[in-house]
Amino acid sequence: MRIFKKVLKILLITLIVLTTFTGIIYYKSVNYTTYSLKPDKSKFEKMVSKEDFDKLAKELVAQMSLEEKIDQMYGEKMLHSVPKFLINAIAKRRFAHIYAGRNERLNIPPWVLSDGPRGARVMDKKINTVTTFPVAMARGASWDVDLERKVNEIIAIEMRANGANYAATPCVNLLRHPGWGRAQETYGEDPWVLGKMGVAAVKAIQSHNVMACPKHFALNSIENSRWVINVDVDDRTLREVYLPHFKKIVQESKTASLMSAYNFVRGDQCGANKELLTDILRDEWGFEGFVSTDWVYGIYDGVEAVKAGLDVEMPWQDEYNYDTIDEAIKSGEISEKDIDEIVIRILRTRLAYAFAEDKMEYNQDLIAKPSHIDLAREVAEKSMVLLKNQNVLPFKKSRNKKIAVIGRLADLPNTGDQGSSNSTPPYVITPYQGIKSLNKTLGNEVILNDGSDIEQAKKIAQEVDEVVLVVGYTHEDEGEYIILSRDKMMESAKAKKLVGEKGMGGDRTSLKLLPEDEILIKSLTPLNKNTVVTYVGGSAIDMSNWQDEVPAILFSWYAGMEGGNALANILYGNVNPSGKLPFSIAVNEEDYPYFNPYIDNITYEYYHGYTLFDKKNKPVAYPFGFGLSYTTFDYSDLSIVNPELTAKDSIQVKVDIKNTGLMAGEEVTQLYIGFKNSNIDRPVKLLRGFDKIYLTPNEEKTVEFSLPAEELSFYNPDTRQWEIEKMDYEIYLGSSSRKEDLLTDTFKVR
Ligand code: BGC
Repeated sequence: MRIFKKVLKILLITLIVLTTFTGIIYYKSVNYTTYSLKPDKSKFEKMVSKEDFDKLAKELVAQMSLEEKIDQMYGEKMLHSVPKFLINAIAKRRFAHIYAGRNERLNIPPWVLSDGPRGARVMDKKINTVTTFPVAMARGASWDVDLERKVNEIIAIEMRANGANYAATPCVNLLRHPGWGRAQETYGEDPWVLGKMGVAAVKAIQSHNVMACPKHFALNSIENSRWVINVDVDDRTLREVYLPHFKKIVQESKTASLMSAYNFVRGDQCGANKELLTDILRDEWGFEGFVSTDWVYGIYDGVEAVKAGLDVEMPWQDEYNYDTIDEAIKSGEISEKDIDEIVIRILRTRLAYAFAEDKMEYNQDLIAKPSHIDLAREVAEKSMVLLKNQNVLPFKKSRNKKIAVIGRLADLPNTGDQGSSNSTPPYVITPYQGIKSLNKTLGNEVILNDGSDIEQAKKIAQEVDEVVLVVGYTHEDEGEYIILSRDKMMESAKAKKLVGEKGMGGDRTSLKLLPEDEILIKSLTPLNKNTVVTYVGGSAIDMSNWQDEVPAILFSWYAGMEGGNALANILYGNVNPSGKLPFSIAVNEEDYPYFNPYIDNITYEYYHGYTLFDKKNKPVAYPFGFGLSYTTFDYSDLSIVNPELTAKDSIQVKVDIKNTGLMAGEEVTQLYIGFKNSNIDRPVKLLRGFDKIYLTPNEEKTVEFSLPAEELSFYNPDTRQWEIEKMDYEIYLGSSSRKEDLLTDTFKVR
């Protein structure tokens, strides 16, 4: 009995100690200390010019011990940071602040990363919502560069209001194959679109003294093997297809930072890839900022990473640890000067941002304020793509109607990926809610049905005036691939197929909709001629099983917090659709480049997307740049102002566009250059300009393009130079990449 009591007592004490200990960790984690990201300016001389920050960075480094220097080269130390991060993520569904590089002794403030492709991710402890925009792919489909600027300004403002000053966005990896799980985070398949959107995003972010960190540098277009895959690529493909948009972002928007990709390129991991990080990025492009790794598996060898020119390991100190670096310095493999250079690069950039005067005060009242939410709706409206419309849309705004909104996704708040691009809005308007609220003012009845009972759904479809079928995906089907084990990823990659449980998100191995969606479409469409299929997702799908049977198809994407209202506005003609596909949709899945999410090596070829289909003369289901409107636009009088030019000039092109229909609307006009006369293997045509214009009925406008001839160049791997061929080029100008939609003419470069 006494022994029993003793054991009980020990158990009780252990329990109390453990509970107290866990309680303290929990309490400290959710109430973690926050720090100002601004310096105490009274401790420094007046800092204004680039030279001032260069000097300051050098002076600070000269005062630092090796340990202090290394402390600038990672996010936080694991011991306290991992529990903080996990407890906040799990218990509070909140992305905690990781304070990188704070040095109290030298008065150096920290910097804090926030993800943000569709809204700020790091959230202040008092606030737990932000404005959630449509995903980047939707914004790519808007082809509206100025809109992208506005979106990113707001994302940056809300980041600042949440105590972050480093934006892990935009994602500008190229959509090589539609199955890529993170397609929704980028802007599409075309390097030109990626570059234009990326530059606009970075400039907007940085205008609020948030350092932009475009990602993932580079060739990160497969998700499920991202930690292990090596991408082989030849020089022309690398320079002309996978890097031009990164180069534009570096040179035109002077991005403060870049995030290295997880994958390997030509044998070296991107975080330790000297060719990418030093030879190309710094030596050729003149990048002056700093590079941080993608999170957790960003580098596997600290010394190799230092040698390659990688600056910051995120989010925790692992490979950039004191022992590894100290030993490598002592053995002469690297020198302390290498470390100094890294720290100077980091400090001169981040201090310039920290010291800069803000143009406004970033208080928390700004978060998700009405004008931000209005923009979220406008973006959703401007990005939806109408692919097919056999006299169904717009639905009439008449009274006494019955409308059915049917499908698993009809009333699901569904803003996309729930990995790093997740964002937490105060509310989400679902398709059903949006359609219901618009019809309420008309006194119409809106019926919701989840489609799980097909017979019941069929009955409803027969009885109503209009049917909106909401099909597509959620974060379960596509998005960031959430598994924690790299070994598991390696196992699948070695086996070239999935080994074990799939996990959440990731790549799509089939481009078809889920069987239940296809069944729903096929069973209901014949029953009601006013049926619209609305697709929710982030990339191309294979519609071959059903597209001919449905009268209308609308790509509505993951449309953000106001998506349902935007959808209703499009369906009922309050807004004229103006989005166009930022990718091509093939007739057969096999027509795309080879894609397998479970491999450890792949070659990215020169052709993909419309350049591939053009080259092989393969018909597509829906061309790149295609999208319908409720009005019609007429293109005429294509003229080339200077049909003969030198390689130093810009080609000037004009075209007239007239709204020949009955409704005002926006048109995305596209300029392609053709290379028929080239002596080398070149694409049939490449996008080299686009513009979105608004025209009222009967209105006509002249659209002008000016394109520097250097944008016609190709990369010569022998000379390692960009070269412009002196020959005749074609101009194609029109409403999509499809031949029938383009006016054409030629010009000569002498
Ligand atoms: C993603 C990055 C993201 C980072 C931080 C990684 O898993 O690949 O895109 O910025 O997490 O959340």
